[in-house]
Amino acid sequence: MRTQVGIIGSGPSGLLLARLLHLQGIDTVILESRSREYVASRVRAGVIEQGMADLLREAKAGERMDREGLIHEGINIAFDGRLERIDFPKHTNGKVVMVYGQTEITYDLMKAHIDEAGGIVHYEAPAIRVEGYDTESPRIIYEQNGDQKELVCDFVAGCDGFHGVARKSVPADEIKTFERTYPFGWLGILSDVPPVKEELIYANHERGFALCSMRSHTRSRYYVQCAIDDKVENWTDDAFWDELGRRLPPETAENVTTGPRLEMSITPLHSFVAEPLRFGRLFLAGDAGHIVPPTGAKGLNLAASDIYYLSRALITYYKEKRTDLLDRYSESALRRVWKAIRFSWWYTSQDKL
Ligand code: APR
Repeated sequence: MRTQVGIIGSGPSGLLLARLLHLQGIDTVILESRSREYVASRVRAGVIEQGMADLLREAKAGERMDREGLIHEGINIAFDGRLERIDFPKHTNGKVVMVYGQTEITYDLMKAHIDEAGGIVHYEAPAIRVEGYDTESPRIIYEQNGDQKELVCDFVAGCDGFHGVARKSVPADEIKTFERTYPFGWLGILSDVPPVKEELIYANHERGFALCSMRSHTRSRYYVQCAIDDKVENWTDDAFWDELGRRLPPETAENVTTGPRLEMSITPLHSFVAEPLRFGRLFLAGDAGHIVPPTGAKGLNLAASDIYYLSRALITYYKEKRTDLLDRYSESALRRVWKAIRFSWWYTSQDKL
């Protein structure tokens, strides 16, 4: 099998790239290790910045987001029993953020790319490794229905997340990695209850950090910082709501609507950056190249930032035979990555706030 751009992974990075390239007449094939149902139901991030919202509109996959997404013009910081609001447009030349779940974004991209445009995604077809990325015809070796197959491409985009194989296909001495593991985790609950406040609340408390977030007017996402070795099995729904209440100003805590969990999980907090993000004709994008703790809601937005640079670089290559943007991809993407890594580290180390 042959294609122009072979994409490993059908998370937001892979799907958004495929969609933007398709709109410019560039062929792609996505290989995804999981099933379509599994990918579509994964609960992940939910706050998107202006840049990503604009990119989804450009991908003609932003219509439902514009209809159903919640525009937020600020956040609240809780400390010492107080609640202070930070006004985004006032401090960012009018920029706002949008609350719209990654699950919904994935659904919209799948619908636009696969169901409406007939884009090719092979589900349950895990890539095993990338070969010949320093040649003109890199290959992705993958498995499907028990057979080993080969996808020959002009370029390979490794959009296969932190545990993917694209990064691991590069010899260790050609790649530099930077890592930090934080000494705590975040216990998160997703519940069909109205959010306590219309905007996010970041709470700094001596018992640990807490975040009040949401996916819609009727679905809330709350987090409390927990010990690194804590287990979801240790937490009943009531215990979670009690602990959340203790970390919020009293009048905010009184207004929390509690309810049963739709999902509860512990997120370990981790920063990771791979350098560079380009190896010949292999490009890493999104979680495959970097991870940030969820504190600043930067992970998904950084993935979109990578795809912004990579899509433009590939489009200029195919339309104008120019390679300068491909040559600059790693540097351009990493400039934003490091800023977000620094910001997320600072925001996560909340005892310093
Ligand atoms: N072969 C094929 N697909 C693979 C392989 C493999 N060997 N390994 C992993 N994948 C798939 C995963 O199943 C997943 O669907 O790659 C996809 C990677 O998707 P994500 O992990 O969602 O990463 P990405 O698309 O970069 O999304 C950005 O930023 O901080 C986060 O929450 C945010 O998950 C979001 C991410």
